[in-house]
Amino acid sequence: MVDINPKYIDKEELEGISSDISLEEIENFDKHSLNNFVELKTIIEAKEPGSPWVIVKDNKTGEREEIFDCTSMNWTLALGFAHPDVNYAVYEQMKRLTHVRSGCLTPARAKFCNKLAELAPGKLKGGRVVINNQGGGLALESAIKLAIIAGRGADHFLTFFHGYHGTSLVTTGASQPFHAVSRFSPFGTEHFTRVPQPYCYRCLWKYKNGIYGKRDPQCNLECFDLVEKYLMGMTPKKLIGVILEPFQAAGGHIPFPPEFLKKLKDICEREKIFTIYDECQTAVWRTGKYFTLTEKYEKELGIDVSPDMMMFTKAIGGGFPLGALIVSPKIKKRYTPTEEHTTFSSTPISLTAGLASIKVIEKEKFGENCEARGKQITKRLFELQEKYEVIGDIRGPGLFIGIELVKNQKSREPYTELLEEMVLEGPKQKIFLGPSMPIFSGTGQMLMRNVIKIKPPLNITEEDADFAYEKFESVLKTSLNSIKKE
Ligand SMILES: Cc1ncc(COP(=O)(O)O)c(C=O)c1O
Repeated sequence: MVDINPKYIDKEELEGISSDISLEEIENFDKHSLNNFVELKTIIEAKEPGSPWVIVKDNKTGEREEIFDCTSMNWTLALGFAHPDVNYAVYEQMKRLTHVRSGCLTPARAKFCNKLAELAPGKLKGGRVVINNQGGGLALESAIKLAIIAGRGADHFLTFFHGYHGTSLVTTGASQPFHAVSRFSPFGTEHFTRVPQPYCYRCLWKYKNGIYGKRDPQCNLECFDLVEKYLMGMTPKKLIGVILEPFQAAGGHIPFPPEFLKKLKDICEREKIFTIYDECQTAVWRTGKYFTLTEKYEKELGIDVSPDMMMFTKAIGGGFPLGALIVSPKIKKRYTPTEEHTTFSSTPISLTAGLASIKVIEKEKFGENCEARGKQITKRLFELQEKYEVIGDIRGPGLFIGIELVKNQKSREPYTELLEEMVLEGPKQKIFLGPSMPIFSGTGQMLMRNVIKIKPPLNITEEDADFAYEKFESVLKTSLNSIKKE
């Protein structure tokens, strides 16, 4: 296969598209971007291939600096920036093909789907996969479509408070409401009933001792009793599916107790309601040595909570745009060619990158590394909790760490201002930290946005992990001081 060599334009000019930007171009972009432009730095390039460090350019001064990324860029870059193995596989793919029409089979498409069917947990193993070029929102819409097709006419779904599944007109309706602050209403909201999720740190049933992602020892899962009512007929229309993130990510890093999931699964199987898990953030070894959280529960707790359908995005594409849905082989219905495709949905590049990244993680055991580095960081965070009243809760596992900030540990009052300050302070101290999504009241008042996240790439070293928690403390200290001064 011939190497890539430009035919019409100089190599230098082509390289210039990605290698740098002038302050004037940044200023012009600000004028032409329909998105409200908020970032203060432009991301330029990996410090080294496969590194969690990235070189950025300050949008005002033009200075370049290095930043350690604890957001994995929307929790996506499992192997850091510009990983060499992934890029090599993509380069090889690009020499052959960059795009095919949606129905086409390519080697990468077949190999990727076969691998996902092999990796999928529990009853999804050996299942059927559909892919898209966009991500989690579209994967959820696929699940919704298939549930309706397979569900003999029922088209109503249960979703949970604080769930987040995307920003399309349909998936916003399935997610935590933004109606008080967004200028449009989601479409199709009549298809969703939203119910309270178990949130053990802020239990609606007033149990006080839920912490570290665990239930209060006295809890009797009253939250499940309520959900059970809905499952048994209390929705306005007949239910066909329950959509949930087993560990709610954007909404505040809130796990469902595995026992809740088990009860839910049992009733749903009995009532012929599909369980649809959104593991967009928790899959691809993000929580440790297992591919999904569902698999972790099966292997470590001996509880099979595997759903009928599971959706993926983020790290599944190895840093390239990809969404996927896998459904249990027991669901016999398949899509017709008209029902499920987009122009770019067979994207050979993302499929190649996704499979290459899975191969690297498996071979190098980065799931195990993720677990070890996660333990290293959380251990130190528990120590910090003794020192800082504002660290309310710490929820792992793996490098899927959320720290709930509170005014004090007793009252558990959310400390939103501190989170906002820390997210701005981070880059000044060479670290990107991630925020949870805001939760608003019906009148648009911010109720809480108080979970800060440490979710760096899975391949970080021990020294990187030291850096992450040392910086976390330093950013916390500076932010507390600046809030006090205001
Ligand atoms: C858990 C979860 N589900 C779904 C989505 C939506 O995915 P996408 O933005 O790729 O449509 C996200 C995005 O952040 C997510 O975190």
